[in-house]
Amino acid sequence: MTVTIVGSQLGDEGKGRVVDLYGAAADVVARYQGGDNAGHTVVEGGNEYKLSLVPSGVVRGKIGVLGNGCVVNPETLFDEIDTLRERGLEPDVRLARRAHVILPYHRVLDGIEEDVKSDSDRKVGTTGRGIGPTYEDKAGRRGIRVGDLLDAELLHEKLEYVVPQKRALAEKVFGVETGEAFDVDAVHEQYQRYGERMKEENMTVEAGDFLASRLDDGDEIIFEGAQGTLIDIDHGNYPYVTSSNPTAGGAATGTGLSPGIVGDGDVIGIVKAYLTRVGSGPLPTELGGVVGDTPDYDEQGAGENEDLAEYIREEGGEYGTVTGRPRRVAWLDMPMLRHAARASGFTGLAVNHIDVLAGLDEVKVGYSYDVDGEEIFTVPATTERWGRCEPNFRSFDGWPEVDWSEVADEGYDAIPENARTYLEYISDELDAPVYAVGVGPSREDTVILNRPFE
Ligand code: GDP
Ligand code: IMO
Ligand code: MG
Repeated sequence: MTVTIVGSQLGDEGKGRVVDLYGAAADVVARYQGGDNAGHTVVEGGNEYKLSLVPSGVVRGKIGVLGNGCVVNPETLFDEIDTLRERGLEPDVRLARRAHVILPYHRVLDGIEEDVKSDSDRKVGTTGRGIGPTYEDKAGRRGIRVGDLLDAELLHEKLEYVVPQKRALAEKVFGVETGEAFDVDAVHEQYQRYGERMKEENMTVEAGDFLASRLDDGDEIIFEGAQGTLIDIDHGNYPYVTSSNPTAGGAATGTGLSPGIVGDGDVIGIVKAYLTRVGSGPLPTELGGVVGDTPDYDEQGAGENEDLAEYIREEGGEYGTVTGRPRRVAWLDMPMLRHAARASGFTGLAVNHIDVLAGLDEVKVGYSYDVDGEEIFTVPATTERWGRCEPNFRSFDGWPEVDWSEVADEGYDAIPENARTYLEYISDELDAPVYAVGVGPSREDTVILNRPFE
Protein backbone atom coordinates (compact mmCIF):
# COMPACT_ATOMS: atom_id res chain seq x y z
CA MET A 1 0.00 0.00 0.00
CA THR A 2 0.96 3.63 -0.13
CA VAL A 3 0.97 6.56 2.27
CA THR A 4 1.02 10.06 0.83
CA ILE A 5 2.41 12.85 2.98
CA VAL A 6 1.01 16.28 2.10
CA GLY A 7 1.77 19.67 3.63
CA SER A 8 -1.61 21.19 4.56
CA GLN A 9 -0.40 24.75 4.99
CA LEU A 10 2.50 26.74 3.55
CA GLY A 11 5.36 24.27 3.89
CA ASP A 12 7.59 23.39 6.86
CA GLU A 13 4.80 21.58 8.73
CA GLY A 14 7.19 18.80 9.71
CA LYS A 15 6.66 16.50 6.73
CA GLY A 16 10.20 15.09 6.93
CA ARG A 17 9.74 13.89 10.48
CA VAL A 18 6.46 12.13 9.63
CA VAL A 19 8.08 10.43 6.62
CA ASP A 20 10.82 9.29 9.00
CA LEU A 21 8.24 8.10 11.53
CA TYR A 22 6.24 5.94 9.14
CA GLY A 23 9.38 5.17 7.13
CA ALA A 24 10.19 2.43 9.64
CA ALA A 25 7.62 0.17 7.98
CA ALA A 26 8.16 1.41 4.40
CA ASP A 27 10.45 0.05 1.71
CA VAL A 28 10.58 2.98 -0.68
CA VAL A 29 10.14 6.74 -0.24
CA ALA A 30 9.36 8.69 -3.41
CA ARG A 31 9.27 12.46 -3.87
CA TYR A 32 6.71 13.48 -6.51
CA GLN A 33 7.29 17.21 -7.01
CA GLY A 34 9.54 20.13 -6.17
CA GLY A 35 13.29 20.14 -5.96
CA ASP A 36 15.94 21.52 -3.66
CA ASN A 37 13.60 24.28 -2.54
CA ALA A 38 12.45 21.72 0.04
CA GLY A 39 14.16 21.44 3.41
CA HIS A 40 12.94 18.42 5.34
CA THR A 41 14.29 17.84 8.82
CA VAL A 42 14.75 14.46 10.47
CA VAL A 43 16.14 14.31 14.00
CA GLU A 44 17.29 10.89 15.11
CA GLY A 45 19.44 9.96 18.08
CA GLY A 46 20.86 13.47 18.45
CA ASN A 47 21.66 13.75 14.75
CA GLU A 48 19.82 16.33 12.71
CA TYR A 49 19.50 15.82 8.94
CA LYS A 50 18.24 18.60 6.70
CA LEU A 51 17.28 17.05 3.39
CA SER A 52 16.58 18.99 0.23
CA LEU A 53 16.46 16.35 -2.48
CA VAL A 54 17.30 12.98 -1.00
CA PRO A 55 13.96 11.53 0.24
CA SER A 56 13.66 11.48 4.03
CA GLY A 57 13.59 7.66 4.19
CA VAL A 58 17.38 7.76 3.75
CA VAL A 59 17.92 8.05 7.49
CA ARG A 60 16.35 4.61 7.88
CA GLY A 61 18.21 3.24 4.86
CA LYS A 62 15.15 3.11 2.57
CA ILE A 63 15.33 3.40 -1.20
CA GLY A 64 14.61 6.96 -2.35
CA VAL A 65 13.03 7.84 -5.67
CA LEU A 66 12.83 11.27 -7.29
CA GLY A 67 9.78 10.93 -9.50
CA ASN A 68 9.08 12.48 -12.89
CA GLY A 69 7.30 15.40 -11.21
CA CYS A 70 10.49 16.55 -9.50
CA VAL A 71 13.04 19.03 -10.77
CA VAL A 72 16.56 17.87 -10.02
CA ASN A 73 19.68 19.93 -9.56
CA PRO A 74 22.39 17.28 -9.92
CA GLU A 75 24.98 19.48 -8.23
CA THR A 76 23.01 19.79 -4.99
CA LEU A 77 21.88 16.16 -5.24
CA PHE A 78 25.43 14.83 -5.43
CA ASP A 79 26.62 17.22 -2.70
CA GLU A 80 23.84 15.99 -0.48
CA ILE A 81 24.54 12.33 -1.23
CA ASP A 82 28.26 12.83 -0.56
CA THR A 83 27.60 14.65 2.72
CA LEU A 84 25.21 11.94 3.88
CA ARG A 85 27.80 9.28 3.01
CA GLU A 86 30.38 11.16 5.09
CA ARG A 87 27.90 11.03 7.95
CA GLY A 88 27.67 7.26 7.66
CA LEU A 89 24.42 6.85 5.73
CA GLU A 90 24.12 4.90 2.49
CA PRO A 91 21.80 6.86 0.23
CA ASP A 92 20.23 4.72 -2.51
CA VAL A 93 18.57 7.31 -4.75
CA ARG A 94 16.86 6.48 -8.05
CA LEU A 95 16.09 9.25 -10.51
CA ALA A 96 13.18 9.25 -12.91
CA ARG A 97 14.52 9.64 -16.44
CA ARG A 98 11.49 11.84 -17.06
CA ALA A 99 12.34 14.27 -14.25
CA HIS A 100 13.48 17.70 -15.41
CA VAL A 101 16.92 19.07 -14.67
CA ILE A 102 17.66 22.44 -13.08
CA LEU A 103 20.46 24.06 -15.08
CA PRO A 104 22.70 26.95 -14.00
CA TYR A 105 20.76 29.45 -16.11
CA HIS A 106 17.53 28.55 -14.31
CA ARG A 107 18.98 29.65 -11.00
CA VAL A 108 20.31 32.88 -12.49
CA LEU A 109 16.95 33.64 -14.11
CA ASP A 110 15.11 32.94 -10.84
CA GLY A 111 17.29 35.62 -9.20
CA ILE A 112 16.88 38.08 -12.06
CA GLU A 113 13.07 37.85 -11.99
CA GLU A 114 12.94 38.29 -8.24
CA ASP A 115 15.22 41.34 -8.55
CA VAL A 116 13.01 42.84 -11.21
CA LYS A 117 9.98 42.37 -8.97
CA SER A 118 11.72 43.54 -5.81
CA ASP A 119 10.38 47.07 -5.89
CA SER A 120 6.78 45.90 -6.10
CA ASP A 121 4.46 43.53 -4.27
CA ARG A 122 5.00 41.03 -7.09
CA LYS A 123 8.11 39.55 -5.48
CA VAL A 124 7.43 35.96 -4.43
CA GLY A 125 10.42 35.49 -2.16
CA THR A 126 11.50 32.28 -3.89
CA THR A 127 14.25 30.07 -2.57
CA GLY A 128 16.36 31.09 -5.57
CA ARG A 129 16.91 27.48 -6.60
CA GLY A 130 15.66 27.90 -10.17
CA ILE A 131 12.46 25.98 -9.51
CA GLY A 132 10.03 28.24 -11.41
CA PRO A 133 12.21 28.70 -14.51
CA THR A 134 12.77 24.93 -14.74
CA TYR A 135 9.05 24.10 -14.58
CA GLU A 136 8.49 26.88 -17.14
CA ASP A 137 10.81 25.10 -19.55
CA LYS A 138 9.11 21.79 -18.82
CA ALA A 139 5.72 23.27 -19.76
CA GLY A 140 7.36 25.09 -22.67
CA ARG A 141 8.67 21.78 -24.05
CA ARG A 142 12.24 22.97 -24.08
CA GLY A 143 13.37 21.40 -20.80
CA ILE A 144 16.31 19.05 -20.32
CA ARG A 145 15.40 15.80 -18.60
CA VAL A 146 17.47 13.38 -16.56
CA GLY A 147 17.34 10.95 -19.49
CA ASP A 148 18.99 13.59 -21.71
CA LEU A 149 22.05 13.75 -19.45
CA LEU A 150 22.82 10.12 -20.31
CA ASP A 151 23.52 10.89 -23.99
CA ALA A 152 26.24 13.53 -24.38
CA GLU A 153 25.51 14.22 -28.04
CA LEU A 154 21.78 14.61 -27.54
CA LEU A 155 22.42 16.84 -24.53
CA HIS A 156 24.61 19.13 -26.64
CA GLU A 157 21.94 19.36 -29.32
CA LYS A 158 19.26 20.28 -26.81
CA LEU A 159 21.45 22.86 -25.12
CA GLU A 160 22.29 24.43 -28.49
CA TYR A 161 18.59 25.08 -28.96
CA VAL A 162 17.71 26.37 -25.52
CA VAL A 163 20.75 28.20 -24.16
CA PRO A 164 20.83 31.02 -26.77
CA GLN A 165 17.17 31.71 -25.97
CA LYS A 166 17.96 31.99 -22.29
CA ARG A 167 20.97 34.21 -22.99
CA ALA A 168 18.83 36.51 -25.12
CA LEU A 169 16.20 36.63 -22.38
CA ALA A 170 18.76 37.60 -19.73
CA GLU A 171 20.66 40.08 -21.89
CA LYS A 172 18.01 41.60 -24.14
CA VAL A 173 14.91 41.52 -21.96
CA PHE A 174 16.44 41.97 -18.52
CA GLY A 175 19.65 43.74 -19.57
CA VAL A 176 21.86 41.49 -17.45
CA GLU A 177 25.32 40.36 -18.54
CA THR A 178 25.65 36.60 -18.72
CA GLY A 179 28.56 34.29 -17.98
CA GLU A 180 29.33 30.58 -17.96
CA ALA A 181 25.83 29.70 -16.83
CA PHE A 182 24.68 30.65 -20.33
CA ASP A 183 27.54 29.05 -22.27
CA VAL A 184 26.56 25.88 -24.16
CA ASP A 185 29.95 24.17 -23.92
CA ALA A 186 30.54 25.04 -20.28
CA VAL A 187 27.10 23.78 -19.24
CA HIS A 188 27.49 20.69 -21.43
CA GLU A 189 30.86 19.81 -19.96
CA GLN A 190 29.53 19.98 -16.40
CA TYR A 191 26.19 18.23 -17.02
CA GLN A 192 27.43 15.38 -19.15
CA ARG A 193 29.73 14.55 -16.20
CA TYR A 194 26.69 14.38 -13.95
CA GLY A 195 25.14 12.04 -16.51
CA GLU A 196 28.27 9.86 -16.35
CA ARG A 197 28.02 9.64 -12.59
CA MET A 198 24.32 8.76 -12.80
CA LYS A 199 25.21 5.94 -15.18
CA GLU A 200 28.15 4.72 -13.07
CA GLU A 201 25.97 4.61 -9.97
CA ASN A 202 23.08 3.08 -11.88
CA MET A 203 20.74 5.73 -10.56
CA THR A 204 18.23 6.32 -13.33
CA VAL A 205 14.96 4.41 -13.67
CA GLU A 206 11.65 4.35 -15.47
CA ALA A 207 10.18 5.50 -12.19
CA GLY A 208 6.56 4.53 -12.84
CA ASP A 209 7.52 0.98 -13.81
CA PHE A 210 10.01 0.74 -10.97
CA LEU A 211 7.44 1.79 -8.35
CA ALA A 212 4.69 -0.38 -9.85
CA SER A 213 6.86 -3.47 -9.75
CA ARG A 214 7.88 -2.75 -6.16
CA LEU A 215 4.19 -2.51 -5.23
CA ASP A 216 3.52 -5.79 -7.05
CA ASP A 217 6.23 -7.38 -4.95
CA GLY A 218 4.40 -6.25 -1.81
CA ASP A 219 6.53 -3.24 -0.94
CA GLU A 220 5.16 -0.34 1.09
CA ILE A 221 5.67 3.08 -0.48
CA ILE A 222 5.60 6.56 1.00
CA PHE A 223 5.00 9.49 -1.34
CA GLU A 224 6.81 12.42 0.25
CA GLY A 225 5.21 15.70 -0.70
CA ALA A 226 7.29 18.83 -0.47
CA GLN A 227 6.04 22.39 0.09
CA GLY A 228 2.35 22.75 1.03
CA THR A 229 -1.20 23.16 -0.25
CA LEU A 230 -1.32 26.95 -0.11
CA ILE A 231 1.79 27.21 -2.28
CA ASP A 232 0.51 24.65 -4.81
CA ILE A 233 0.58 26.15 -8.32
CA ASP A 234 -3.15 25.34 -8.78
CA HIS A 235 -4.61 25.34 -5.28
CA GLY A 236 -2.36 27.87 -3.61
CA ASN A 237 -2.45 31.63 -3.53
CA TYR A 238 -1.18 32.30 -7.01
CA PRO A 239 1.21 33.95 -7.83
CA TYR A 240 2.83 33.55 -4.36
CA VAL A 241 3.30 29.85 -4.96
CA THR A 242 5.86 27.31 -5.99
CA SER A 243 5.57 25.87 -9.50
CA SER A 244 4.38 22.33 -8.78
CA ASN A 245 1.51 20.37 -7.17
CA PRO A 246 2.22 19.35 -3.57
CA THR A 247 -1.45 18.28 -3.18
CA ALA A 248 -2.21 14.56 -3.35
CA GLY A 249 -3.04 14.53 -7.07
CA GLY A 250 0.62 15.33 -7.67
CA ALA A 251 1.56 11.97 -6.19
CA ALA A 252 -0.03 10.25 -9.19
CA THR A 253 1.12 12.55 -11.98
CA GLY A 254 4.53 12.99 -10.36
CA THR A 255 5.35 9.28 -10.04
CA GLY A 256 3.58 7.52 -12.90
CA LEU A 257 1.27 5.51 -10.64
CA SER A 258 -2.48 5.83 -10.96
CA PRO A 259 -4.75 8.06 -8.85
CA GLY A 260 -6.44 4.81 -7.78
CA ILE A 261 -3.25 3.58 -6.15
CA VAL A 262 -2.77 6.87 -4.32
CA GLY A 263 -6.44 6.92 -3.29
CA ASP A 264 -6.39 3.33 -2.08
CA GLY A 265 -3.73 4.27 0.43
CA ASP A 266 -3.69 6.81 3.21
CA VAL A 267 -3.29 10.51 2.52
CA ILE A 268 -1.94 12.19 5.62
CA GLY A 269 -2.23 15.94 6.00
CA ILE A 270 0.65 17.38 7.97
CA VAL A 271 -0.45 20.26 10.16
CA LYS A 272 1.70 22.61 12.17
CA ALA A 273 -0.26 23.53 15.32
CA TYR A 274 0.18 27.19 14.38
CA LEU A 275 1.22 28.59 11.01
CA THR A 276 4.38 29.83 9.37
CA ARG A 277 5.15 31.27 5.99
CA VAL A 278 8.45 31.98 4.26
CA GLY A 279 8.14 34.59 1.55
CA SER A 280 5.45 36.96 0.43
CA GLY A 281 1.65 36.74 0.07
CA PRO A 282 -1.35 37.15 2.39
CA LEU A 283 -1.53 35.52 5.81
CA PRO A 284 -4.84 36.57 7.43
CA THR A 285 -4.05 35.22 10.91
CA GLU A 286 -0.48 36.65 10.96
CA LEU A 287 0.70 37.64 14.42
CA GLY A 288 3.68 39.80 13.62
CA GLY A 289 5.46 40.59 10.42
CA VAL A 290 8.77 40.12 8.66
CA VAL A 291 10.38 42.97 6.74
CA GLY A 292 10.48 42.25 3.03
CA ASP A 293 7.98 39.38 3.24
CA THR A 294 4.85 40.68 4.98
CA PRO A 295 2.86 42.70 2.44
CA ASP A 296 2.46 46.34 3.44
CA TYR A 297 4.94 45.87 6.28
CA ASP A 298 6.10 49.45 5.77
CA GLU A 299 2.63 50.84 6.45
CA GLN A 300 1.52 48.28 9.03
CA GLY A 301 4.71 47.86 11.00
CA ALA A 302 5.44 44.75 12.99
CA GLY A 303 1.86 44.17 14.16
CA GLU A 304 0.42 44.31 17.66
CA ASN A 305 1.26 40.70 18.46
CA GLU A 306 4.88 40.90 17.39
CA ASP A 307 6.12 39.82 20.85
CA LEU A 308 4.02 36.67 20.66
CA ALA A 309 5.19 36.00 17.09
CA GLU A 310 8.79 36.45 18.22
CA TYR A 311 8.23 34.07 21.15
CA ILE A 312 6.78 31.34 18.93
CA ARG A 313 9.49 31.91 16.29
CA GLU A 314 12.21 31.39 18.89
CA GLU A 315 10.52 28.46 20.66
CA GLY A 316 9.84 26.71 17.36
CA GLY A 317 13.17 27.65 15.71
CA GLU A 318 11.17 29.14 12.86
CA TYR A 319 13.95 30.08 10.48
CA GLY A 320 13.99 28.72 6.92
CA THR A 321 15.71 25.33 6.57
CA VAL A 322 16.97 26.26 3.10
CA THR A 323 17.49 30.00 3.33
CA GLY A 324 17.76 30.75 7.07
CA ARG A 325 15.14 33.51 6.70
CA PRO A 326 12.88 34.23 9.70
CA ARG A 327 9.49 32.66 9.06
CA ARG A 328 6.32 34.71 9.39
CA VAL A 329 4.20 33.38 12.27
CA ALA A 330 0.40 33.17 12.49
CA TRP A 331 -2.40 31.41 14.35
CA LEU A 332 -3.83 28.25 12.87
CA ASP A 333 -6.11 29.04 9.93
CA MET A 334 -9.09 26.70 9.56
CA PRO A 335 -10.32 27.96 6.16
CA MET A 336 -6.86 27.04 4.88
CA LEU A 337 -7.04 23.57 6.41
CA ARG A 338 -10.57 22.92 5.08
CA HIS A 339 -9.34 23.88 1.61
CA ALA A 340 -6.35 21.53 1.98
CA ALA A 341 -8.46 18.63 3.27
CA ARG A 342 -10.80 18.96 0.31
CA ALA A 343 -8.06 19.24 -2.30
CA SER A 344 -6.15 16.18 -1.06
CA GLY A 345 -8.78 14.09 0.73
CA PHE A 346 -6.97 13.58 4.01
CA THR A 347 -7.62 10.19 5.57
CA GLY A 348 -5.54 11.14 8.59
CA LEU A 349 -3.67 14.03 10.16
CA ALA A 350 -0.31 14.46 11.82
CA VAL A 351 -0.28 17.55 14.02
CA ASN A 352 3.17 18.79 14.97
CA HIS A 353 4.59 21.42 17.31
CA ILE A 354 2.00 21.34 20.09
CA ASP A 355 4.96 21.59 22.49
CA VAL A 356 5.92 24.96 20.99
CA LEU A 357 2.61 26.52 22.07
CA ALA A 358 2.88 25.17 25.64
CA GLY A 359 2.90 27.84 28.32
CA LEU A 360 0.67 30.32 26.48
CA ASP A 361 -2.47 31.41 28.36
CA GLU A 362 -4.56 31.33 25.25
CA VAL A 363 -4.25 29.71 21.82
CA LYS A 364 -6.33 31.07 18.97
CA VAL A 365 -7.61 29.64 15.74
CA GLY A 366 -8.88 31.62 12.75
CA TYR A 367 -12.25 29.90 12.35
CA SER A 368 -13.75 31.78 9.40
CA TYR A 369 -13.12 34.95 7.40
CA ASP A 370 -15.16 38.09 6.92
CA VAL A 371 -14.70 39.48 3.44
CA ASP A 372 -16.69 41.94 1.35
CA GLY A 373 -19.60 41.76 3.78
CA GLU A 374 -19.91 37.96 4.07
CA GLU A 375 -18.56 35.21 6.28
CA ILE A 376 -16.70 32.46 4.43
CA PHE A 377 -15.22 29.18 5.62
CA THR A 378 -12.66 28.33 2.98
CA VAL A 379 -9.96 30.13 1.00
CA PRO A 380 -11.04 32.46 -1.81
CA ALA A 381 -9.69 31.76 -5.28
CA THR A 382 -8.06 35.13 -5.79
CA THR A 383 -5.15 36.27 -3.74
CA GLU A 384 -6.52 39.84 -3.74
CA ARG A 385 -9.74 38.67 -2.06
CA TRP A 386 -7.78 36.49 0.34
CA GLY A 387 -5.70 39.55 1.22
CA ARG A 388 -8.90 41.36 2.24
CA CYS A 389 -10.07 38.54 4.53
CA GLU A 390 -10.35 39.36 8.22
CA PRO A 391 -10.28 36.26 10.43
CA ASN A 392 -12.85 35.48 13.10
CA PHE A 393 -11.06 33.83 15.97
CA ARG A 394 -11.95 31.06 18.38
CA SER A 395 -10.04 30.97 21.60
CA PHE A 396 -8.76 27.86 23.37
CA ASP A 397 -7.30 27.70 26.88
CA GLY A 398 -3.57 27.17 26.74
CA TRP A 399 -1.77 24.11 28.07
CA PRO A 400 1.20 23.91 30.40
CA GLU A 401 4.82 23.09 29.62
CA VAL A 402 5.31 19.44 30.57
CA ASP A 403 7.96 16.77 30.12
CA TRP A 404 7.18 15.97 26.49
CA SER A 405 9.44 12.90 26.35
CA GLU A 406 7.36 11.42 29.12
CA VAL A 407 4.19 12.29 27.23
CA ALA A 408 5.57 10.58 24.13
CA ASP A 409 6.33 7.46 26.18
CA GLU A 410 2.94 7.39 27.89
CA GLY A 411 0.75 8.10 24.88
CA TYR A 412 -2.22 10.23 23.91
CA ASP A 413 -3.90 10.47 27.30
CA ALA A 414 -0.75 12.00 28.76
CA ILE A 415 -1.08 15.02 26.46
CA PRO A 416 -2.40 17.94 28.54
CA GLU A 417 -6.19 18.05 28.38
CA ASN A 418 -6.43 21.49 26.76
CA ALA A 419 -4.06 20.40 24.01
CA ARG A 420 -6.22 17.32 23.40
CA THR A 421 -9.27 19.57 23.14
CA TYR A 422 -7.41 21.58 20.52
CA LEU A 423 -6.38 18.45 18.57
CA GLU A 424 -9.90 17.05 18.67
CA TYR A 425 -11.29 20.35 17.41
CA ILE A 426 -8.97 20.21 14.37
CA SER A 427 -9.83 16.57 13.72
CA ASP A 428 -13.60 17.22 13.95
CA GLU A 429 -13.42 20.24 11.65
CA LEU A 430 -11.49 18.31 9.00
CA ASP A 431 -13.34 15.06 9.52
CA ALA A 432 -10.10 13.13 9.69
CA PRO A 433 -8.57 11.27 12.63
CA VAL A 434 -5.29 12.32 14.20
CA TYR A 435 -2.69 9.68 13.35
CA ALA A 436 0.28 11.25 15.11
CA VAL A 437 1.13 14.21 17.32
CA GLY A 438 4.53 15.87 17.30
CA VAL A 439 5.62 16.97 20.79
CA GLY A 440 9.24 17.79 19.91
CA PRO A 441 11.59 17.59 16.94
CA SER A 442 13.08 14.13 17.55
CA ARG A 443 11.84 10.85 16.21
CA GLU A 444 11.00 9.75 19.76
CA ASP A 445 9.01 12.91 20.51
CA THR A 446 5.89 11.63 18.83
CA VAL A 447 2.60 10.28 20.09
CA ILE A 448 1.46 7.69 17.58
CA LEU A 449 -2.22 6.80 17.36
CA ASN A 450 -2.28 5.01 14.01
CA ARG A 451 0.40 3.21 12.01
CA PRO A 452 -0.96 3.04 8.46
CA PHE A 453 1.29 0.22 7.20
CA GLU A 454 0.57 -2.05 10.15
P1 GDP B 1 9.16 20.09 6.47
O1 GDP B 1 9.71 20.95 5.40
O2 GDP B 1 7.68 20.00 6.44
O3 GDP B 1 9.79 18.72 6.53
O4 GDP B 1 9.51 20.82 7.85
P2 GDP B 1 10.91 21.53 8.23
O5 GDP B 1 11.90 20.49 8.54
O6 GDP B 1 11.28 22.56 7.23
O7 GDP B 1 10.49 22.35 9.51
C1 GDP B 1 10.01 21.74 10.65
C2 GDP B 1 10.92 22.12 11.83
O8 GDP B 1 10.26 21.84 13.04
C3 GDP B 1 12.19 21.29 11.87
O9 GDP B 1 13.20 22.03 12.49
C4 GDP B 1 11.79 20.10 12.74
O10 GDP B 1 12.88 19.49 13.39
C5 GDP B 1 10.88 20.76 13.73
N1 GDP B 1 9.77 19.96 14.22
C6 GDP B 1 9.01 19.05 13.54
N2 GDP B 1 8.02 18.58 14.34
C7 GDP B 1 8.15 19.21 15.54
C8 GDP B 1 7.41 19.18 16.77
O11 GDP B 1 6.42 18.47 16.94
N3 GDP B 1 7.87 20.00 17.78
C9 GDP B 1 8.96 20.81 17.63
N4 GDP B 1 9.33 21.55 18.67
N5 GDP B 1 9.66 20.86 16.48
C10 GDP B 1 9.27 20.08 15.45
P1 IMO C 1 9.28 22.38 2.36
O1 IMO C 1 9.20 21.14 1.50
C1 IMO C 1 8.22 26.59 2.80
C2 IMO C 1 8.16 28.98 -0.88
C3 IMO C 1 9.21 30.05 -1.04
C4 IMO C 1 8.43 31.05 -1.88
C5 IMO C 1 7.59 30.15 -2.79
C6 IMO C 1 8.19 29.91 -4.17
O2 IMO C 1 10.51 22.44 3.18
O3 IMO C 1 8.03 22.55 3.15
P2 IMO C 1 10.24 28.48 -5.05
O4 IMO C 1 11.70 28.56 -4.73
O5 IMO C 1 9.62 27.15 -4.77
O6 IMO C 1 9.92 28.96 -6.45
O7 IMO C 1 9.55 29.54 -4.06
O8 IMO C 1 7.48 28.91 -2.12
N1 IMO C 1 8.70 27.62 -0.60
C7 IMO C 1 8.62 27.02 0.59
N2 IMO C 1 8.17 27.47 1.78
N3 IMO C 1 8.66 25.31 2.68
C8 IMO C 1 9.10 24.85 1.49
O9 IMO C 1 9.43 23.56 1.29
C9 IMO C 1 9.12 25.73 0.38
N4 IMO C 1 9.51 25.59 -0.90
C10 IMO C 1 9.22 26.76 -1.50
O10 IMO C 1 9.60 30.57 0.19
O11 IMO C 1 7.54 31.78 -1.07
MG1 MG D 1 10.94 22.63 5.18
